[in-house]
This record gives sequence, C-alpha cells and structure tokens, in this order.
Amino acid sequence: MSTADNCPSADSCSTQPEANASIGRMNRPEELNRNMDVSTFVDSNGGLIDRAIYNEPAIYAQEQRRIFARSWLFLAHTSQFKKPGDFFTTFMGEDPIIVTMDKTKKIRAYLNSCRHRGVRLCRADAGATKMFTCSYHGWSFDLAGALKTVPNEKAYPEDFDKNKWSLIEVPNVQEYKGLIFGNWDHEAEPLEEALGDMRYYMDAMLDRDPEGTEVMGGVMKWELDGNWKLAAEQFATDWYHVNMSHASALMVLSPTGKGPKPEIAATPGRQFVSENGHGAGFPTHPKSRFDARPVHEYYDYEMLRERLGDAAVEGPMTTGHATVFPNFSYLPVNGSIRVWHPKGPNKIEVWAWVLVDKSMPDDVKDAQRLYNLRTFGPSGIFEADDGENWSEIQAISGGFVTNRVPLNFQMGIGSEREDGVYPGKTSELYSDAAGRAFYKHWAKIMNTPAWHERNK
Ligand code: FES
Ligand SMILES: [Fe+2]
Repeated sequence: MSTADNCPSADSCSTQPEANASIGRMNRPEELNRNMDVSTFVDSNGGLIDRAIYNEPAIYAQEQRRIFARSWLFLAHTSQFKKPGDFFTTFMGEDPIIVTMDKTKKIRAYLNSCRHRGVRLCRADAGATKMFTCSYHGWSFDLAGALKTVPNEKAYPEDFDKNKWSLIEVPNVQEYKGLIFGNWDHEAEPLEEALGDMRYYMDAMLDRDPEGTEVMGGVMKWELDGNWKLAAEQFATDWYHVNMSHASALMVLSPTGKGPKPEIAATPGRQFVSENGHGAGFPTHPKSRFDARPVHEYYDYEMLRERLGDAAVEGPMTTGHATVFPNFSYLPVNGSIRVWHPKGPNKIEVWAWVLVDKSMPDDVKDAQRLYNLRTFGPSGIFEADDGENWSEIQAISGGFVTNRVPLNFQMGIGSEREDGVYPGKTSELYSDAAGRAFYKHWAKIMNTPAWHERNK
C-alpha cells in the first residue's frame, strides 16, 4: 500500500513533508524528554521483570516516545474502506489518528488534531466525508490532508502559506493481508520485515480463504484497569493460565460437563518466539477444529491442509493466541482481533473487531460473530477472567514493597529452538519464552533513540 514516495497526486501530497516538518519545530527543554536506561528493569536471560515498568509514569511517557512513536501499529482493516472519503478514527499510542481513503483510493492516516488550535478534528468513530471541517473555527482539510479553507484568511500575514498547515500525515502506512499498520518512522524497516516469521502464524488466520478476510459490524470498545503490556504479553506467551483462570468457562463449554482436565499443563503445543517481540502459542492436534459448530462444518479441512500445510492446520489455524509487538493481538478460533490502546500507565482501552473469511455464507459469519461475543466479547465468559487478572496485578503494583518484588518469567528458559516444523524459534506451549522476548525487545527499543531524536 501507500508510502509518501508513492504519492499519486503530486499536488496534494507535496504539502505533507512541509507540514510534517512542523513536528518538534519548537525547541523544548531536555527535561521534558529525558529518557532513562531501562535495562535494569528487564532481566530476559534470568526471567525477571521489575514491576515498575507497569506503573511508573516516566516509563510510560518514554514508551510514547520510543515504542508507540516508532513501531508498526495496527490501524484498521481494509474492509472498513470501500470508497473515497470513508474514514475511521483510532489511536497510535495516545496520538489520535484519522484513517481515510483518498480520491485515488489510497489509504492514508493523519494526526486527528486541527492545525489551528489543536482541537480533535474528527470526532466520529467512522463514516464518510468529502472534507474534515474543524468544529472550533472552521478550518477545513481535504482527503489528502491539505488545508483548503481558512475563514477570514485575509487577516493572516502575507507569508501565511496553507501548504505549511496541512494535516500531519503518518508517513508510513502499509498493509499485510487486509491488516493496515502505520508507523511514524519514515525510515522504519518495511512491515513485512518487521513481522518476519510471524507472517506464517498470521497467515493461518488471514489466508484460509483465497478471497481474504473482512471485519463484521463495528468495533467493541471497553476499558480495563491495568497496563497495556499485561494484556499484550499474555496474548504473546500465556497458555499457562487457561485451565486455571478459565476453569468455570471451560466447564460451561464442556459437552460432558466435566470441564478442563485436572492438570494445569495438559496440552501439547508450541509457542513461537520472535526477536522482534511478537509471540504466538497454540495447542497441536491432528484433529484441531473450530469451536463454533457452523464454522467447523463449513470448513473443508483437507483443502485447508493443501492451502496452508499440515502444521498450520494442526496448530496455529484454530485455537491459540498471538501478539504482534507492541499492542495488536488476535485469537484465530473466534476471529477476535484487538488493539490494547494505552490510556495512561494504569488503564487500557480494548478495541476489538470480529474477523471472518470473506467467502463464508452469512449464517456462518454470524455464528462466528456470536461465538466471538460469547467467549471474548466485552462480557464474554473468557474475556472477563483475563481482565480481572490484569486489574488485580495493577491494583497492588503501587505498594512500595510490592513494587520492589520482581515477577517470574522463568518457565522454559533455554527451551527456545528451531523445531523443524514451525518457522522461526519455538518453545513449549507452556513457557514464558515469548514473554521474555517481548520484554527484551521492549527494553532494546526503549534504550534506542527514535527517528525524532536523530540528528539533534
Ligand atoms: S482549532 Fe480548528 S479551526 Fe480553530
Ligand atoms: Fe485467557
């Protein structure tokens, strides 16, 4: 998809570099951007994590600068944009973003803040428009981000140049099989390279259907008390909690009423471990299947084996969990894709979509949607268990002594290897390996100057 050098209309796009040059144009005292060395908070070899990374405001502020301002962040699904002017508003970290389709059908993303006095330019969640007009004083911007109308423009100085006051554009917007990601770093490595072997695990959800995927309905949004990393880390690495945390939900779903096996760790499977911080875990079974009966009956598993390979069908295609670093996660079995939006160190806003295959008949799509809502919707029987655990961790992390006691990520230390079946390095299903890798990458980029700090 698009990047700035791929601009179809020189007219409108030529304004963006001038506008983006405004980022950081006014010098600030260094105190406001002081970064700390976070290497002592993460012992990825020893498997220890310092709880300060969850509730320390200075660390959270540094994450905005060095994690969210420089990583590939999920913005939206391509099926949300059908014609020029369709738009969707979201966040990159705490930065508000408008994602829209311009006149040439290119997907573009802008900072959702008026260039005049900074009010949120577009307040709707989604819709269609020809112009984005500010509700404060009426400056209006076209779909290419260009400032078109300034009421009482004649009163501005002669050198007032509207080209310099375009919307700030996210310079790097790329797509992977329907998922649109944005990156503020114009020199970031391409999305596909940043995903690396994670693509294989994503394909098991995104590439089952030659027609691809689409999202159904709108976005479910809810708040949780907790730090965004608690959720992202769990989806990267944690099958360990399933039989314990979700025991009552598993009992409800059990056809015999017996519920989960009495052992906590009873299922064979693998966990993908990425040096870029991604992670995915999945049970493996020759008869892996989708849980919702109409979805299970819809699929031709032999065809899927031909398309994706036996290992994908017997592993990551159905039951499992995954995180694309830093804050995009998904569950293939029910098509839940979600972003953990950070809202301060102690709060997450969860945004969740239902993803289905385009070719599915409507009744199968609907069955998947209902299964999604019942299990991992805002009041889903599994979702509530997970949020409760994260909130409990966060609620006590402010205690002085509590905060000084490190957390344990030692399961499966040294187990990461190439297993000859699944791409990249994998560990056991019950392992903290992807969690250790998530925090190792987090610490690495927290300690590395980002694009906005270069050449200063
Ligand atoms: S703040 Fe948008 S026009 Fe004034
Ligand atoms: Fe869970």
